[in-house]
Amino acid sequence: MNAYKLAVVGGDGIGPDVTRAALAGVHAAAARCGFSIEATDFDLGAERYLRTGVVLEEETVSALREHDAILLGAVGDPRVAPGILERGLIVALRVAFAQSVNIRPVRLYPGVESPVRGVTAQNCDLVVIRENTEGLYTGGGSLSHAGTEHAVALQNSITTAAATAETVEFAFQLAQARRGRLTLCHKTNILLHAGGLWQDTVDQIGQRYPQVEHDYVHADAMCQHLPLDPGRFDVVVTDNLFGDIISDLGATVQGGLGLAAGANYNPRGTAPSMYEPVHGSAPDIAGKGWANPAAAALSAAMCLAGLGERTAALILEAAVASVLAELPSLAGPDMGRSTEELGELIADRVSSIEAPQSEAGARSLMSALGGLALGGTAQGGLAQGHAAAG
Ligand code: NAD
Ligand code: IPM
Ligand code: MN
Repeated sequence: MNAYKLAVVGGDGIGPDVTRAALAGVHAAAARCGFSIEATDFDLGAERYLRTGVVLEEETVSALREHDAILLGAVGDPRVAPGILERGLIVALRVAFAQSVNIRPVRLYPGVESPVRGVTAQNCDLVVIRENTEGLYTGGGSLSHAGTEHAVALQNSITTAAATAETVEFAFQLAQARRGRLTLCHKTNILLHAGGLWQDTVDQIGQRYPQVEHDYVHADAMCQHLPLDPGRFDVVVTDNLFGDIISDLGATVQGGLGLAAGANYNPRGTAPSMYEPVHGSAPDIAGKGWANPAAAALSAAMCLAGLGERTAALILEAAVASVLAELPSLAGPDMGRSTEELGELIADRVSSIEAPQSEAGARSLMSALGGLALGGTAQGGLAQGHAAAG
């Protein structure tokens, strides 16, 4: 029996609640599919920082590294200055574990209503692939003459050929396993140096993927195209900050932040990947018990796919989708059920739902990721994922 060690960082605000609900689905999937999950909680986030002054120490990084994957809820707390937890924990872990690729599917599930008219399950199924360790997130810079009228802030953006190539390669592999379309999203009309490097990288790597068509959309125009015509996109590859912004937009299109999943993915498998919803700690609804755990549960499904448990991933995804289709509302008290109740419902559904046909999953992200995990090399894995599932 396969056995996996999962590190669980609930974090702040709604993070612990949605993560607990997601774990219920994971345990049900493990029981159904015949593998075991040993989940270990890590006390990290605002409370611990306020108590001890420590955000993340080397021992904890080493302990996390011993796990097969990490599930993260969210961090961020109004009592802690912006950036301390976000940079000190999330960005630090993404860098420490070489999670260079952030995978954020934008998929409208059947029976779920998009707030944007005309968006349907048929025309909304794309994946944002976001470079996850560089750009403006590297954090270098300075603020001189602070607090005076002469203040000057410098915020450096770093774009390396290596990280760009790794992200773009992954995006092409995914596009090849899906519908064969890749779109670069950037601001090449203004950010000439970084944009040029991204475009050259896409053009060069694209030559090795003749079956994948690629095009380009500026990040500002993306904010129109993504909501109005999501069907034109299959895989969108983009830099760190643009990816952050357009993935919240994508989340809205697919029904809200409570539904948008993500993976901080280490494509070389040299350290654990970390699976976390796109949303944050939502302090405005923390403690109310009505956060939607679907985003966390779908992130956990990506985790199962990343571990190579493709059938379990597809079952958990289908269970979440089936529960979502029944909800009278996708967020807030009008959902009619608490976060915890939704977790139980998802877990029950995992046990009873018919396993999705491999045919239907052939081009799905879960299949591609699962194939990648099983196949060893990314290329072979994704190709195998497609072939085996189809
Ligand atoms: P947020 O994503 O936490 O919330 C934005 C809005 O979406 C809020 O109105 C919230 O109630 C709603 N929302 C979010 N998740 C929901 C869910 N599961 N169900 C229903 N509604 C949901 O963004 P924010 O308010 O800008 O940030 C809050 C804190 O979280 C900040 O400290 C920020 O830095 C941090 N943050 C952390 C992460 C992360 O840990 N991955 C991501 C984004 C923001
Ligand atoms: C996200 C968040 C993070 C980001 C923050 C919390 C560091 O907004 O995961 O989308 O900007 O990447
Ligand atoms: Mn974000």
